[in-house]
Amino acid sequence: MTPSSVEAGARALAAGELVLMPTETVYGLAADASNPIAVARIFEAKGRPRFNPLIAHVEDLDAAERVAVFGDKARRLAEAFWPGPLTLVLPVRDPQRVCDLARAGLSTVAVRVPGHAKARELIGRFGGAVVAPSANRSGRPSPTTFADAMDETGFAVAAALDGNHCAVGIESTVVSVNDGEVRLLRPGAVTRQDLEAVVGPLAEAGDDAKRSPGRLALHYAPDAPVRLEADGAGEGEAYLAFGAGSASPFNLSPSGDLREAAANLFRLLREADRTKPAAIAVAPIPREGLGEAINDRLKRAAGYVG
Ligand code: TXA
Ligand code: MG
Repeated sequence: MTPSSVEAGARALAAGELVLMPTETVYGLAADASNPIAVARIFEAKGRPRFNPLIAHVEDLDAAERVAVFGDKARRLAEAFWPGPLTLVLPVRDPQRVCDLARAGLSTVAVRVPGHAKARELIGRFGGAVVAPSANRSGRPSPTTFADAMDETGFAVAAALDGNHCAVGIESTVVSVNDGEVRLLRPGAVTRQDLEAVVGPLAEAGDDAKRSPGRLALHYAPDAPVRLEADGAGEGEAYLAFGAGSASPFNLSPSGDLREAAANLFRLLREADRTKPAAIAVAPIPREGLGEAINDRLKRAAGYVG
């Protein structure tokens, strides 16, 4: 594929397609953060066996404040390091702008303003938040050149922006700011010393950080117990169906489409949970393609995996 224009990239995002987006850290595989089907395409293209929460890329601090809730320390960090390789994990403000699947159902959202002019142009032209994990296939190194990014996930995109070599070359630093406590979740180009110069000593990172990136212990868990591989609802249970032939109001995909099931997963888990059922019984989900990540997520919801 020859490199696309920023306009073509913005149109592709608006159409729910994927776009290769250069950033100053690594190339990202970008999608409209508010569109769960587009976000499901990201996981499909990466071949990710899990739904990890993604970073929402926005144009500036104003746009970030529409997505997340900023306290004093978060704002100081943003003012010190944006645009640049720092990601802030904050309470979500508007859960529609960055959909449930993009947040893996969490009530927090990761947000950053990239330091690459082309990325900001793309986001500005598109006009919304853009989620983008590194553009590699799962388990492979993050691409830092246009050619490498094309090799990894070029097959899945409708547009690809050439932004030359990524100046930083490693992923952004990820910190959470919660009740005024700043925690380092993933080290990156913005160092602990850089952060402490702005907000003072960081809090102990705790278990979640040790598992980041990727293997986050924190995840959305429904209040109701979850029963997997169920052919129907038992007494008092809500049924999360998959495929045709169920009267349940909670159907992950009446047509049996895994992309649609991924897009609906967190929303329907929540909706089923809100009916305060004795348990949420879940239909068997095929294991191929996106089914692997869906099943992983369901196992976590059922308490089988930390
Ligand atoms: O430099 C980067 O950050 C690149 C470019 C493309 O921007 N993106 C990137 O995305 O590295 P990804 O998906 O590979 O890594 C996102 C990291 C993961 O470690 C994830 O666990 C963490 O951010 N993260 C996202 N949302 C989170 C949340 N709500 N709570 C805790 N960690 C979160
Ligand atoms: Mg990555």
